[in-house]
Amino acid sequence: MIELNDVSFSYDNKMIISNLTLSIKKGEKIGIMGESGCGKSTLLKLMAGLYRADCGTVMVDGESEPEKISRKVSVVMQSPMLLPLSIYDNITMGHKYNPKQVEKVVKMARLSSWVDTLPDRIQTYIGDRADELSGGQAQRIAIARAMYKDSEVLLLDEPASALDSENSKSVLDAIMEYAIDKTVVHVTHQSKHLDGYDRIYVLKDGVLK
Ligand SMILES: Nc1ncnc2c1ncn2[C@@H]1O[C@H](COP(=O)(O)OP(=O)(O)OP(=O)(O)O)[C@@H](O)[C@H]1O
Ligand SMILES: [Mg+2]
Repeated sequence: MIELNDVSFSYDNKMIISNLTLSIKKGEKIGIMGESGCGKSTLLKLMAGLYRADCGTVMVDGESEPEKISRKVSVVMQSPMLLPLSIYDNITMGHKYNPKQVEKVVKMARLSSWVDTLPDRIQTYIGDRADELSGGQAQRIAIARAMYKDSEVLLLDEPASALDSENSKSVLDAIMEYAIDKTVVHVTHQSKHLDGYDRIYVLKDGVLK
């Protein structure tokens, strides 16, 4: 499902990923840990088709062109990007209309009790409220968005970093339940978030160990 073959990537002249090879089968759950700044987010962005490798090949769900890869994966980035739209539109992002599915992902991302307090509920416009959202609320909208896209591949970059431990457990459990048949790559500093994962790597010196 995900194949990285001899992949290297640098910012300017700073080598971040160095001849990295990795093969992930459909349905596997892979954890990636490592020191801050070692390149975990960069590696995830390569798998998400957001960056193009300097050399080597990245193949995800049958695609090797970054733009095509990005259409095939669901990603929760470390700092979620919200748009000046309603919560509903931030979750659906122009994908097909399915209010039942929105309701479902809002519940799974543990957004319901907060959304129910807002004046226009799910239709509340975030543009006016962007500064009023907590990091955890923004993160849960990003999780609901990734679930709504419903790709075969789910890439998670510290998806629960802004949540308290009770909420993060609840949201991560919901993600794992949702993603039972999906291929998951999860970057985190907390090994307890990777309980039950098939493999856990540490990224160091540009390679996975
Ligand atoms: N757009 C960029 N341009 C130049 N350098 C960058 C860019 N993004 C990241 N870097 C640098 O590349 C290195 C790897 O960054 P990256 O964000 O991948 O690390 P990380 O492992 O995700 O760290 P953290 O655990 O803190 O999130 C860091 O030294 C960072 O400063
Ligand atoms: Mg990072």
